[in-house]
Amino acid sequence: MTDPLMSLVWTDHVTGRRGFLVVDRLVRGVASGGLRMRPGCTLEEVAGLARGMTMKEALHYDPRGRYVPLGGAKGGIDCDPRDPRAYGLLVRYLRAMRPYIESVWATGEDLGLSQDLVDRAAAEAGLVSSVQAVYPLLDDESAARKRLADAFAVEVDGIGLDELAGGCGVAESVLAALDRAAVPYAGTRVAVQGLGTMGGATARFLARAGLTVVAVADLKGTIANPAGLDVEALLTARDGYGTVDRGVLRPDDRELPGDAWLSAEAEVLVPAAVSYAVDGTNQERIRARWIVEAANMPVVAEAEALLTARGVTVLPDVVVNSGTNAWWWWTLFGDIGPDADEAFAYLRRSMRALVGLMLDRAEADGTTPRAAAHALVTDRLPVIAERFGWYR
Ligand SMILES: NC(=O)c1ccc[n+]([C@@H]2O[C@H](COP(=O)([O-])OP(=O)(O)OC[C@H]3O[C@@H](n4cnc5c(N)ncnc54)[C@H](O)[C@@H]3O)[C@@H](O)[C@H]2O)c1
Repeated sequence: MTDPLMSLVWTDHVTGRRGFLVVDRLVRGVASGGLRMRPGCTLEEVAGLARGMTMKEALHYDPRGRYVPLGGAKGGIDCDPRDPRAYGLLVRYLRAMRPYIESVWATGEDLGLSQDLVDRAAAEAGLVSSVQAVYPLLDDESAARKRLADAFAVEVDGIGLDELAGGCGVAESVLAALDRAAVPYAGTRVAVQGLGTMGGATARFLARAGLTVVAVADLKGTIANPAGLDVEALLTARDGYGTVDRGVLRPDDRELPGDAWLSAEAEVLVPAAVSYAVDGTNQERIRARWIVEAANMPVVAEAEALLTARGVTVLPDVVVNSGTNAWWWWTLFGDIGPDADEAFAYLRRSMRALVGLMLDRAEADGTTPRAAAHALVTDRLPVIAERFGWYR
């Protein structure tokens, strides 16, 4: 693949903190990708994430669908989201990025930011919407915007549909892998790093499918129970950053160090927090059979090679966590309506098809699932570019 189309470093004149935007590739003049805020965020990280978005878009290409894949992009701000100056910084970043958001970059929440916060800051920065760059591609803009707004208003048992879509896709990827290996859901144990948007929803869907969630980690540490955690109680006890109030723990739940989720006795590990969580050293402690990447870039390449060599399967981020992005566009472009059951059914069908395609390709080529996903992308990108073009 080529270099990114555009990489940009921004320095805040008030705090001196930096922000980044990488547009990896355009399709019909637009690229899609969220905005993250975390201390230590770098241009290199954002470039990797932008490339990942290009792949996620291409993987969901369905010539029969109304939604045509976009290009990939990503934004990042180097700041702790709980810093009292974080909101002002976010507004100034969005003001600086306004020309890009108005024309080429459709964005939304990612690590450290909620969609509500992005929406509020975007309005303050004078933007119509964080996804306004795609509006010129819509057949009926007002109907599409209403559909998306209605979808965002849908809640299922206390959690917004927008915060459930991604985790529904992650959970379905896990279930597809278990089905393929003929492993029953009951008795299968899961450990999750991160109980925010992605980790929280994944834990809910997996628990509801009959799996046992034995460990979850947040910024404060790991909460574990080999007999199974009360996932719904933990979800209800989260603050706005995905940290669980320990007051809801049951007497037999245990509090362990932050990295204990990694070595939990579990068949499935779901890293759903930070990038680079599993590295060449700590991978030794993993006992699971599957690692399912809800987070972006949580397993570094060196770790993946070592894990693969000892029979651990890593299902890659570009497939596993692609559901949120796809759900936004399916809804906006009108492939689905603002309805939770319709959204979950469409997500499940699409994720199963995609995971199946990737695992078939991996088997045929004798490669890892990640290499197979990349091969699928390599096949598709020229087709998409030829059919739709980089610029409109
Ligand atoms: N939100 C989305 O729509 C979306 C979509 C696709 C991929 N992702 C990826 O999923 C990951 C999580 O994003 P999110 O939106 O769920 O974030 P979030 O901010 O909603 O939640 C993050 C969670 O991770 C925990 N956490 C943070 N640092 C940690 C650490 N060092 N150790 C343990 N736990 C830690 C937090 O306590 C919180 O529970 C990111 O890699 C993001 O890029 C998010």
